[in-house]
Amino acid sequence: MTVLGPDVWPPAPIRTERLVLRGSEARDRAAVIELGASPEVGTYLGGPRPRAELERTVPEVPGRRPGFFVVELDGAAIGTVQLDPQNPGTPVHRREAGETHLGYLFLPDAWGHGYAGEACAAALDWFSGVLPGEPVVLYTQTANVRSMRLAAKLGFTELERFEAYGAEQWFGVRSSAR
Ligand SMILES: CC(C)(COP(=O)(O)OP(=O)(O)OC[C@H]1O[C@@H](n2cnc3c(N)ncnc32)[C@H](O)[C@@H]1OP(=O)(O)O)[C@@H](O)C(=O)NCCC(=O)NCCS
Repeated sequence: MTVLGPDVWPPAPIRTERLVLRGSEARDRAAVIELGASPEVGTYLGGPRPRAELERTVPEVPGRRPGFFVVELDGAAIGTVQLDPQNPGTPVHRREAGETHLGYLFLPDAWGHGYAGEACAAALDWFSGVLPGEPVVLYTQTANVRSMRLAAKLGFTELERFEAYGAEQWFGVRSSAR
């Protein structure tokens, strides 16, 4: 197994210094809709989605899949961290760099406190315990300065830059044998 399966999911909640990471529940639906509808969150992700559309399409329990962590601060959801399989349509050389990619979305009020870094580091630690030696890749727009800084802080190194969706994209990898 090189991608996360139902055998390892959901894990027991992961506690960090300030946060809890856990699988999603019905009570997370409002935060997931807020993340999708937020213009700030959507700036480098193709823009926000209409709230009415999200209300219609987000399932009762959102993000019910292995690798989808809800991040809680003092009992309230502030963001999500995702470890997802790379899309099968991705060019082979990018899939060969790592089968799992990291994503992160935090509500704007939670930016600037180091929460995303703390949560992603915990999720990556958990991942390397479950799939030792398995690399994780990451995509972000180079214009997304906060995300670029976070990727560097987490230990991702650049493999490639390319144009897509009318913007420069950054593709990096983090080896778990670090
Ligand atoms: C990308 C994103 C998660 C980054 O959030 P962030 O809060 O900047 O990231 P970090 O958790 O690394 O926090 C770093 C900031 O917290 C500050 N900070 C405050 N207390 C801190 C602490 N105890 N520890 C670490 N950093 C701390 C740092 O100084 C830094 O702030 P600055 O950049 O203003 O100097 C967030 O901007 C976001 O959700 N964006 C929208 C979604 C998105 O674009 N995702 C990328 C898809 S790949």
